[in-house]
Amino acid sequence: MKLVFLGPPGAGKGTLAVLVSQEYTIPHISTGEIFRTAIREKTPLGLKVQAVIDAGQLVGDDITIQLVKERLTQEDAKNGFILDGFPRTIPQAEALGEIITIDSAINFDINDTLVVERLSGRRVCKTCNKNYHITFMPPKEEGICDKCGSELIVREDDKIEAITKRLEVYRTQTEPLINFYDSKKMLTNIDASAVSGIVFEAFCKLFPKI
Ligand code: AP5
Ligand code: MG
Repeated sequence: MKLVFLGPPGAGKGTLAVLVSQEYTIPHISTGEIFRTAIREKTPLGLKVQAVIDAGQLVGDDITIQLVKERLTQEDAKNGFILDGFPRTIPQAEALGEIITIDSAINFDINDTLVVERLSGRRVCKTCNKNYHITFMPPKEEGICDKCGSELIVREDDKIEAITKRLEVYRTQTEPLINFYDSKKMLTNIDASAVSGIVFEAFCKLFPKI
């Protein structure tokens, strides 16, 4: 299964991708996570993109397309993948179409009020990247990752000014991809406003395991 997860920031793309990746044994490829790891490790890529990401803007198409192109040639992506957060612009979608044919683009349907609530309450493990929400998906012990015991932090781009910027960027640059994939009969809408177990159940019904 070759999937694109499309939707506004905070729609729950990463959360669902973790569950789908386990259930269907396909890799979860998040461009955002790749960039954040590069920033944490202070690689040349990380140093280049940090300011752009922290401000809630998009990294350039050339860098991002090249990164995804290389990732998709890896062995584990041969039988399918979830692209979470890519493509995010029309040029990225066109470039992806030249690399590979996807089965579906899943559009996460959710309103802005819920998005802001989810992003402002998100906490992320600073070591293993696992995501939590202070109300909807709290860790067992406040401020501590269940999986690895490290400290949970607030993503720099989850501060309110950056959230507002990311929503604006989404509207102008990424939302047009809904029509792009719809016109190619490749779009699947999913109601992303429910709790994550219900969103996962809805996904499994739409894409039964063979
Ligand atoms: P990226 O990491 O992709 O961020 P995003 O799209 O803004 O999405 P998020 O990760 O914030 O949200 P999500 O939909 O994954 O939600 P989540 O599951 O975490 O990109 C970051 C940055 O990198 C971009 O701004 C850009 O600068 C750069 N970048 C990345 N890709 C790029 C590209 N292709 N081109 C250019 N630049 C690129 O959930 C959010 C919260 O809600 C969590 O706390 C979670 O616990 C909670 N939650 C999730 N689902 C539910 C639910 N069903 N019910 C209740 N709570 C829920
Ligand atoms: Mg994410």
